[in-house]
Amino acid sequence: MNEQTKGLFITFEGGEGAGKTSQISRLKDHLISLGHEVLVTREPGGTPGAEIMRHVLLSGAAENFGAEMEAILFAAARNDHVEHVIRPALLDGKIVLCDRFIDSTRVYQGVSGKVEMAFLKKLEDVVCEDAWPDITLLLDLDPEEGMKRAASRRSTDEAPDRFEKEALKEQETRRNGFLSIAEEEQGRFKVIDASGDVDAVAARIWTEVATTLKERGLAAG
Ligand code: TYD
Repeated sequence: MNEQTKGLFITFEGGEGAGKTSQISRLKDHLISLGHEVLVTREPGGTPGAEIMRHVLLSGAAENFGAEMEAILFAAARNDHVEHVIRPALLDGKIVLCDRFIDSTRVYQGVSGKVEMAFLKKLEDVVCEDAWPDITLLLDLDPEEGMKRAASRRSTDEAPDRFEKEALKEQETRRNGFLSIAEEEQGRFKVIDASGDVDAVAARIWTEVATTLKERGLAAG
């Protein structure tokens, strides 16, 4: 978000089973305990219109149209989400915690789907305008471990989604994709070792977030 706004935009990225959901919930509780106003949201989704697109995308209904079309649909969902939820919250001074954002498109549709980065960047410019993430926490985990965690978390009657069905090799490609974006954009990215127990990972995340809060003159406990 640009300098004049008071809010802070934090996105979470990572492969399957990296623990984003539970870490977002912990960070939210911690920030609230320090007196911050926090909004938790996710992609694809976050608005009624984007949740409909989430269903289309994750059911695999759009798969036959190809990765470029999927990227456009993810961007359309994101546009609605930024306009109606993320930007208003940031303008209101809230800390926004978003489960996946532009970097998931760069990796899942860009690296894995072979959609050109220049095309994705054009979509990002249209959608994000002034709402770029201040920090992106990349929860980095060995894909084998992540897939084990994701499988054990899934209930027996719940089928894996379109993207979860992909093989281990694909998960490795995605991990490297995230790590190389993190390398290119070191100012925005914080790579978090997501192995080990939840408390240890939460502590690593807090170290990074607290530093940013202090830099912005916001309470960090
Ligand atoms: P979700 O159930 O939220 O999974 P996870 O716990 O892994 O975040 O499913 C979101 C899926 O959508 C996930 O497999 C990644 C994929 N995705 C994309 O392919 N492109 C995108 O731009 C986004 C936001 C998600």
